[in-house]
Amino acid sequence: MLEVRHLNAFYGPVQVLHDVSLSVAAGEIVALVGANAAGKSTLMFTLAGLRTTHTGEILLDGVAIDPFAAYERPSRGLVLVPERRRLFPFMNVLENLEVGAYCPAARSVARKTLDEVFELLPVLAERRKQVAGSMSGGEQQMLAIGRALMAKPRVLLLDEPTEGLAPIYVKLLFDLIVNLRVKGLTVLIVEQNVHHVLHTADRAYVLENGHIVMEGKGSALLNDERLKTAYLGL
Ligand SMILES: Nc1ncnc2c1ncn2[C@@H]1O[C@H](COP(=O)(O)OP(=O)(O)OP(=O)(O)O)[C@@H](O)[C@H]1O
Ligand SMILES: [Mg+2]
Repeated sequence: MLEVRHLNAFYGPVQVLHDVSLSVAAGEIVALVGANAAGKSTLMFTLAGLRTTHTGEILLDGVAIDPFAAYERPSRGLVLVPERRRLFPFMNVLENLEVGAYCPAARSVARKTLDEVFELLPVLAERRKQVAGSMSGGEQQMLAIGRALMAKPRVLLLDEPTEGLAPIYVKLLFDLIVNLRVKGLTVLIVEQNVHHVLHTADRAYVLENGHIVMEGKGSALLNDERLKTAYLGL
């Protein structure tokens, strides 16, 4: 469903991603792991059409998405939940969710989608009038995902959704991701919580200094000696 071919990404003259190729099939949960500064967020930004310049191809259902600006990509079905959530802190839960449905196709069914999001994330229904900035980290992450779902994505890009969250929310979040797959979503997730994500994901890629150095089934990578030493501290 999502295919990246020979991607090189740059901030000005500085190259951060080198010849990155990866694919995510429909209904798959694919993880991207790697040390700090490996280029994980850069890859997510590039897929979302933000910040970087690049060469190479990004295809969604076989169609190149390069011609589409960042704000047009959600209506193509690709939505990013960025690192550190980037909510609108002075707006309430409902207002943040409404912003998520800004593209025309999503807006026309926003009422129904809102009910679905509230069903999936009941905490948002309970707190619909609460100002986003006053919610706990875990609640804010649920809101960030809820806002992304309001755009009716087919492919959801999650950049470190469990960062800074209490263990109970980490578990809730991974349960939610599995639930999203059941609902037909395709997920590409960046995670530092390597152990947990490799258990949940169907497949994973390891990014090192902007290069993909390993790829395989989550369960196989969990047992890989090199990965264990490098990322699992085992
Ligand atoms: N806007 C920017 N301008 C210039 N360089 C940047 C910019 N954003 C990131 N970089 C650099 O690109 C490299 C990759 O950063 P990136 O944020 O993609 O890493 P990451 O794998 O997401 O790391 P982390 O695990 O800490 O989130 C780093 O060396 C970083 O300093
Ligand atoms: Mg990052």
